[in-house]
Amino acid sequence: MGKSGVENSEPFPFFSEINMTAQILDGNALGQKLRAGFKQKADELAAQGVRPGLAVILVGEDPASQVYVRNKVNGCAQAGFYSEKHTYAPDVDPKIVFDKIAELNADPKIHGILVQLPLPKHFDAEAVLDAISSEKDVDGFRAENIGALVQGQRCFIPCTPYGAMKFFEEAGISLKGKDAVVVGRSNIVGKPMAMLLMHAGATVTICHSQTKDLKANCLRADVLVAAIGRPKFITGDMVKPGAVVIDVGINRLPDGKLCGDVDFESAKEVASAITPVPGGAGPMTITMLLANTLESAERVAAAKK
Ligand code: GUN
Repeated sequence: MGKSGVENSEPFPFFSEINMTAQILDGNALGQKLRAGFKQKADELAAQGVRPGLAVILVGEDPASQVYVRNKVNGCAQAGFYSEKHTYAPDVDPKIVFDKIAELNADPKIHGILVQLPLPKHFDAEAVLDAISSEKDVDGFRAENIGALVQGQRCFIPCTPYGAMKFFEEAGISLKGKDAVVVGRSNIVGKPMAMLLMHAGATVTICHSQTKDLKANCLRADVLVAAIGRPKFITGDMVKPGAVVIDVGINRLPDGKLCGDVDFESAKEVASAITPVPGGAGPMTITMLLANTLESAERVAAAKK
């Protein structure tokens, strides 16, 4: 294995010891490839009377959430899935949302239910997620689901970390024995990401706001996952030469442009492979949401046989 930490060097034709500019891990391209397969499977399931269906609930008017929800609904249409979008005013009575979730739990057209986060402050987000039936929890956010993930049992893998793992798989990057550092400890990304990396054989460190020497930790990472929520927080001098860098941050700069948690320009000169923002982890999150919805529909179709 070379300095890049990449076991199978074939998928990295542009990488050499002389030119350290990183391979770009293209989430749009990988997403498109996977989604083409989903369309075929969705049509097969539809022929058996089970077209995969996703219901998305959006409360409030957060512009970023509106974009994510639109992309999720569009992703469903492209993959031949049925979808429903339910939108509510920011001051909606939570009971109305709970009633809708109960209705969707019982609706056979729906195989996945997603409540876009964050919810307004007057909501108990944990209680809302808990109201989704575990068979339809395609975001994989329920405590029960995360428990199954920790134990390596069958579960819905939370979509952003699931998408990150697909990059490693697609690029032939083995995680066995690698030092992986996850920066960020959220329930949605950091914690499940660390679990998946550990299951894949990496030695994992989770860093957060109280970590004593973040830079020193990052510089040890063969695989570095940034999930902090702060624009360009990880700079090239914090990246180990040859590391694989996955940036799951999506931040909007004052000029309106999107950027990740990693300073892409400096990090790409040091890393062997890196995801861009936009066009990296974002499209893969939606792709894996579709994968989970498809899996849920497949379980229903299998149970009918
Ligand atoms: N908000 C930010 N990311 C996500 C996600 O993956 N799922 C949901 N439901 N809300 C989010």
